[in-house]
Amino acid sequence: MFESLKALSPDPILGLIADFSRDENPDKIDLGVGVYKDETGVTPIMAAVKKAEQICHQAEQTKAYMGPAGVPEFNDSIRQLIFGDGHPVLKNQRVSTVLTPGGCGALRVGAEFLLHCAETVTVWVSDPTWANHIPLLGNAGLTLVQYPYYDQQSSQLRFDEMLSTLAGAKAGDVVLLHGCCHNPCGADLNEEQWQALTSLAEKNGFLPFIDLAYQGFGRGLDEDAYGVRLMAERLPELVVASSCSKNFGLYRERVGSLSIMGEQSHHGEAAVTHINNVVRGNYSMPPSHGGAIVGTILQDSALRESWMSELETMRNRINNLRRLLVDKLHAGGASRDFSFIAEQYGMFYFLGISPEQVRRLRDGYGIYMVDSSRINVAGVSQANVDYLTKAIVETIRT
Ligand code: LMR
Repeated sequence: MFESLKALSPDPILGLIADFSRDENPDKIDLGVGVYKDETGVTPIMAAVKKAEQICHQAEQTKAYMGPAGVPEFNDSIRQLIFGDGHPVLKNQRVSTVLTPGGCGALRVGAEFLLHCAETVTVWVSDPTWANHIPLLGNAGLTLVQYPYYDQQSSQLRFDEMLSTLAGAKAGDVVLLHGCCHNPCGADLNEEQWQALTSLAEKNGFLPFIDLAYQGFGRGLDEDAYGVRLMAERLPELVVASSCSKNFGLYRERVGSLSIMGEQSHHGEAAVTHINNVVRGNYSMPPSHGGAIVGTILQDSALRESWMSELETMRNRINNLRRLLVDKLHAGGASRDFSFIAEQYGMFYFLGISPEQVRRLRDGYGIYMVDSSRINVAGVSQANVDYLTKAIVETIRT
């Protein structure tokens, strides 16, 4: 049965992990997979996480099953973090939240849930979008169509084209949005643009499905949730997938959440019965360890403070690196204007070079990025920035 199988090509993002570790170039730089790294190149375990793990370890009495919705303390506190304390939709109990195995789990369960609501569902995704959005939603059976979002040539958002294309999205359609720190391009909607998009959703009746994978990595925990909170205030229904991989550094623990906001509280409650059904048919229930850590941090004021300050350090480092890259590229004589890097948010930006130039950077300099020329800014440091920017300037010159 397996004889006819042909090996697949490696994943366009995760495949870089193996390629990078095989490379023997002592100057190699990993700008591939989207994980945060500190100045020494390490993806640290946050101090608040270590402390919370000790607390959970002491407090845990049993390993018995928890059920498909996961850890209740996590579900309550992550919902507040996303929607904001005192948001009217929380007061009216219109949002139901479950723990999922990472943001990927939330997206996939959300996709299958949508097929409980209608036999066929069209989802509009940004061009470009995160490579894994396509299999996560498409393989679940949703029909994907694209809306214009970002122009790599000019390094600008294509907001007018986005809005005019989404004018064709109708009630029953779903529009997938990046809540902040757009992956892969780093270009986010501003407040005015979120408002215009919300008005369009109000008028046309399409359902926004927001992927909030980087809350706290852009401008701040509240600022990064602006779009979610606005849409929650003005629209009858909303779906939000969130991830704790980046903002809690819990990548391998697989912690995320799926929130369904209905027009009335019983709609969200009914939705959770369908989500539980989807979860039971997939992986039965999520692991609890990561959810318990996040729940413990968010419910303990000292731990929460400590986590917020660590998160701020990470955010500041990323934003400083963005400015440093612009300065170094320009000082190094780059033949293009790279100011846009400092105007964007989160870990990613498109260098805007061809796959052939990406290959030259990899083979000639040991610099690894996704073929689309997406760079993970967090892989840059004071120690490698000169080597990196010199290599980029040389490569784009030819
Ligand atoms: C990325 O975009 O690099 C990260 O979100 C990791 C992944 O799973 O692709």
